[in-house]
Amino acid sequence: KSVASVQIKGKEFVADDYTNVTPKIISYLGKNLHLQKNNPLSIVRQRIVNYFYSSFTHRGHPAFSVYDNLPPIVTTKQNFEDLLIPADHPSRAKSDCYYINRDTLLRAHMTAHQSELLRSGLDNFLMIGDVYRRDEIDSTHFPVFHQVDAVRSQRREELFPDKPELQIFEPTFDKTNPNANHINDPMKQSCHTLEATKLMETQLKSHLIGLTQALFGHNIKYRWVDAYFPFTHPSWELEIFYENDWMEVLGCGIVRNEILVSAGPSNTIAYAFGLGLERLAMALYKIPDIRLMWSTDSGFLTQFENVDLNASITYKPVSSYPQCTNDMSFWLPPQYTIDTFISNDFYDLVRDIGGDIIEQVKLKDKFVHPKSKKHSLCYSIVYRHLERTLTQAEVNQVHKEIEKAVVDAYGVVIR
Ligand code: PHE
Repeated sequence: KSVASVQIKGKEFVADDYTNVTPKIISYLGKNLHLQKNNPLSIVRQRIVNYFYSSFTHRGHPAFSVYDNLPPIVTTKQNFEDLLIPADHPSRAKSDCYYINRDTLLRAHMTAHQSELLRSGLDNFLMIGDVYRRDEIDSTHFPVFHQVDAVRSQRREELFPDKPELQIFEPTFDKTNPNANHINDPMKQSCHTLEATKLMETQLKSHLIGLTQALFGHNIKYRWVDAYFPFTHPSWELEIFYENDWMEVLGCGIVRNEILVSAGPSNTIAYAFGLGLERLAMALYKIPDIRLMWSTDSGFLTQFENVDLNASITYKPVSSYPQCTNDMSFWLPPQYTIDTFISNDFYDLVRDIGGDIIEQVKLKDKFVHPKSKKHSLCYSIVYRHLERTLTQAEVNQVHKEIEKAVVDAYGVVIR
């Protein structure tokens, strides 16, 4: 069966061998949880926006513009090429992104809009919205989540207002050669001076620590970790200590000069960061399961209704209904091995059939039969409804439907 086109919001897209977006995923488009006033994600969004509005003003006006309603369908150029993400980079894999077709996908990060906004002449801006990634299923992963991304750019006069002798760019850097910039030095891009890079790093880190403390209070424990992103250099991740473990909350760095130059401004240096709203909201309000963000239950939403933005709120479970775990084991047909079978494809199928009662899917066992050499996988599927008790019969019914769909899709044999 071949699908010739994909319909999304009344628009028709040509399908091809990259198409892997499912009707279930398409149904999340336009939900805009980050803009729903009762939703915890919206509260965190407003707190972050307020922090940037109040920290940066220019002649009494906010120096940041906010874009929180950019459509999530983007081109591979926006999501990858504009950000110097190479063609063979793992983040582009079909197994990790929701492609509408070869050239179009549901954005995998808000950074996908960075170049177009720079091109439109903006220098300081926030981009807030829903992003889509294929991933495992558990209490902290959902294929749709929300990010806040930002860019802050400065010209020489802004960065070094009373130091006319200091420069952003190395005098030896050839601005006319698009290939002249290098990132061999871990400290900085070859085009930038060390003074400019260090001052930007200091500002970036202090702004983000300021934000973290505005959200979590001054006692929050944090650490910086060196990181790599194709679109920034140098790059870092910020981790906070939460529930006895380090949790990554954001990625950031100095924007690659090539990106700024091809989008317009060739005389500025910029920093950028991207953070995940779900993680912050879950930690701030002690929300135990990421699926709760999608709850329409009034018992959940009223806890976040008309609240003071800075009030400390601890989510009280509406009630917790029991889990129900069923295993699924199957023999793979000869074209797959236990190592080439794509778990993310399986997870999407499970979610398509089971919907939001799927709490977790774990690979439990891989097995190669010593005689027949047949390959077998066993997954545990944890079912739980957030708002009522599921009966075993009801779970068995859904489990059977999933088994049938897996047989149809991959030709596996259920054990
Ligand atoms: N886009 C990155 C992510 O999704 C985060 C990031 C944004 C990192 C901007 C650096 C600069 O993980």
